[in-house]
Amino acid sequence: MIIPESSATQHPTDYASKAKALVGEMTLEEKALLISGDGWWRTHAIDRLQIPSVCMTDGPHGLRKVEGGGLSTSVPATCFPTASALASSWDADLIHQVGVALAEESQANDVQILLGPGVNMKRSPLGGRNFEYLSEDPLLAGKMAVAYIKGVQSRGVGTSLKHYAVNNQEFERMTTSSNLDERTLHEIYLPAFEIAVREAQPWSVMAAYNLVNGVPATENILLLQKILRAQWGFRGFVVSDWGAVNDHINGVNAGLNLEMPGSAAYHRSRIIEGVGTGQIPPQVLDEVVASLLAVVLEAKDRHRPGTTFDLAQHDALARKAAGESLVLLKNEGKLLPLEIGKTKTIAVIGAFSKIPRYQGAGSSQVNPTRVSTPYDELVRMVGNDAVIRYAAGYTEEGTTADQLVDEARQQAKGADVALVFAGLPDSYESEGFDRSSLDLPAGHNRLIEAVSDIQPNVAVVLMNGSAVTMPWANKVRAIVEAWLGGQAGGGAVADVLTGKVNPSGKLSETFPARLEDTPSFPDFPGRSKEANYGEGLFIGYRYYDARKITPLFPFGFGLSYTAFAYSDLRLSAPMIKDTDAVTVEVRVKNTGQVAGKEVVQLYVHEQRAKLARPEKELKAFAKVALQPGEEKAITFRLEHRDFAFYDVSSHDWSVNAGKFDILVGASSRNLALKQTIEVEVTRSAYPRLTRHSQLKEFADHPKGKAFHLQLVEAFGLGNPYEQTEELAKLTPEEAATKRKADMAVKAFLDDMPVYKVCRFSEGSFTEEMLEEILKQVQ
Ligand code: BGC
Repeated sequence: MIIPESSATQHPTDYASKAKALVGEMTLEEKALLISGDGWWRTHAIDRLQIPSVCMTDGPHGLRKVEGGGLSTSVPATCFPTASALASSWDADLIHQVGVALAEESQANDVQILLGPGVNMKRSPLGGRNFEYLSEDPLLAGKMAVAYIKGVQSRGVGTSLKHYAVNNQEFERMTTSSNLDERTLHEIYLPAFEIAVREAQPWSVMAAYNLVNGVPATENILLLQKILRAQWGFRGFVVSDWGAVNDHINGVNAGLNLEMPGSAAYHRSRIIEGVGTGQIPPQVLDEVVASLLAVVLEAKDRHRPGTTFDLAQHDALARKAAGESLVLLKNEGKLLPLEIGKTKTIAVIGAFSKIPRYQGAGSSQVNPTRVSTPYDELVRMVGNDAVIRYAAGYTEEGTTADQLVDEARQQAKGADVALVFAGLPDSYESEGFDRSSLDLPAGHNRLIEAVSDIQPNVAVVLMNGSAVTMPWANKVRAIVEAWLGGQAGGGAVADVLTGKVNPSGKLSETFPARLEDTPSFPDFPGRSKEANYGEGLFIGYRYYDARKITPLFPFGFGLSYTAFAYSDLRLSAPMIKDTDAVTVEVRVKNTGQVAGKEVVQLYVHEQRAKLARPEKELKAFAKVALQPGEEKAITFRLEHRDFAFYDVSSHDWSVNAGKFDILVGASSRNLALKQTIEVEVTRSAYPRLTRHSQLKEFADHPKGKAFHLQLVEAFGLGNPYEQTEELAKLTPEEAATKRKADMAVKAFLDDMPVYKVCRFSEGSFTEEMLEEILKQVQ
């Protein structure tokens, strides 16, 4: 049975009111039972009230429905490319299709909620779970998550957006506090969650293991109530990451709806006791139960027992997704695609070509329905047109030996081309620990160098879930980043190498030249239970831009077998109010010989930022397919938030009046087109004036400026601001002396907190007068 798309993607009010009514019929024991899971993967059923049990499984890039005891065996399911690969497609439609397929497999396996996607930022390329996360950029991660969630939920299966929030290292992940400032939290670590919640309403959000500024994420009122529900309007339920509950009473009071896995009577009795002693107000528990129940009821209604899915079709989709995600990083002299027919001898070097690494380890590990290998697929696609030689080159752990290297050199010598497969073995990259280095195994590096010494035409194909260094990059002619491409990744690699698919992926994360260049070096991972985010806003390309560091390959970079030309960047207006939107149009043309797809990227740069701001930030993108010679116009829309920064004094988004550059191009370091727009500020972008505001803040404030001179004069040092008439009465020498003195007085007064005026004015300016002014400027 094919499941039709249904318009409802989030429980409408009738589930909410049905849930509320049911809560009225539940006993305290039943409520306490429901909010802690039934074992590892289910919620409790309450037969008396016909409340069904729902089943949750991982996620994110395939179904991992655990079977039997333990956690190592799961039902066969399509293993799609992992998140770092999928995000490199920059293709929302494609990810939506993957979401639909994941939902079909969930329905077929009686799974109601899929535990994904993961939208945590890649603070360091060493993060052990980076392969499971989408990007270092909040907008890209957020938009890809929206596509995923909408895809899954359009077929009646819920998602769980994870790991909320600021979960960026694996080292001591259950006990470490991520310590960061408010602006960094809002500008970098929350927006991907915010975009996903506002635009796609996931049925659930998973609260992370870590603490945020000392408060466990599962007990965090700021994150769970004030931000998630009150500001973003989240309507689903919050589930703890598996084992993340610390104090369940605090959790319930903060708005945690479900503890997973269940802790049986352990927490149930505490909850019952907590209500009895008044530690949990009964209405708080009722709300927590009702939000969970609303999703349970919807999940039941939208479940389609007896659904089947087309295994071959899903495998084909996995291949397509991997092909779209692959990033061509180098292609000197157009070594790729291989010209089948002309290329007579191909040396395939590296054991990953026969035993590919295609997914990561940990809770996301899928039991694939089949696995394609690059070697087999190449043999099949090349047929009798070329001879394919092979050498393993290294062991499973990535070590090598003279004999393995010699064998590889023999096979590569005299071949028309050598394809060297390398990457990170399982033991280098997994949930549960961080990477200790950015390097490939020494054996892989040695192999690549040795083969390049005797073979001029080397293409390296990499299989890894996150950035790696490439000391041999200048010695090889082509580099293909194939990521952890899922079960059909081998086929996708063959598609790209032979030109059946024109690569169109672009890096969803920066590839630094060396570990020492990375933003959180040398403080990653945070140890001693504290992870201090000293680099603040500056992660990923924001950091490399600010420090003017040239990365190995920049964010957003990727080549194609064709070429694209950008032109005619136009804005709908040269100046807008911050309450308006501007439309940006650009033309992109395929100037090469083959059809291809380009990821068009738009970044915004504030010309004279008052606060430290990233040099530029990604604000829009689109993937466009073009036939040779074809040209298309792409339009983007920018509004308030695209120019705004998070203002910690008003705890809200604010725009500084002024000029912003709109930069459009093919990667974060190749933005050929620029237009400038002026933004006029109409909404109050000014901090609220308080007794601690400085005199200069009064001068800048639309209401405060009326009182500025009065405050300055009350200070008793005269008026140091330029008074042309007075200066004209003085000799040039006297005027110069006065100007110099005024300059220092002005600097002194500008920074003065206004409450100090009362103290300096010797009684002429009173506390009452200040209170009156403060009232008037609100
Ligand atoms: C992981 C989650 C996962 C959960 C259930 C946890 O250890 O952090 O991502 O969904 O286990 O397997």
